[in-house]
Amino acid sequence: MTDWKPLIAAAGAARERSHAPYSGFGVGAAILMDDGSLHAGCNIENRSYGATLCAERMALGAGLAAGGQRPRAVAVVADASPPARPCGMCLQVLSELGDPGLPILLANLEGEREELRLQDLLPQPFVLPPGRGQRL
Ligand code: THU
Repeated sequence: MTDWKPLIAAAGAARERSHAPYSGFGVGAAILMDDGSLHAGCNIENRSYGATLCAERMALGAGLAAGGQRPRAVAVVADASPPARPCGMCLQVLSELGDPGLPILLANLEGEREELRLQDLLPQPFVLPPGRGQRL
């Protein structure tokens, strides 16, 4: 059972630091890594819109750079009802290092919470065919 409280708090705080002047839609994410460390990320938009970075991938990058190897739980906070889903690109990136059963909590500012698993959100990630550089 995941203790979601610290993840929701970290994701909510990161959301407040997001740089989202174009969409006006701040997103915060927090990730618990396999070494027990907790990391946060927020979306960073860019005037060249396609260069925008999502909160979930920022959080995973922070966790990896700090020495964690695998995500064990992810929380996402945004001002949306129902709570916002991670985009397909973030789900694919999470699937590179996370198990299909990776728990993902979707939360909003009104206290709505939905706990799903990576496989619920991305049932069929892209995988390379066997023998084509696939991670062992
Ligand atoms: N966004 C995220 O940070 N995570 C997602 O999974 C989906 C979208 C951000 C990108 C952009 O800054 C804003 O939300 C609106 O699309």
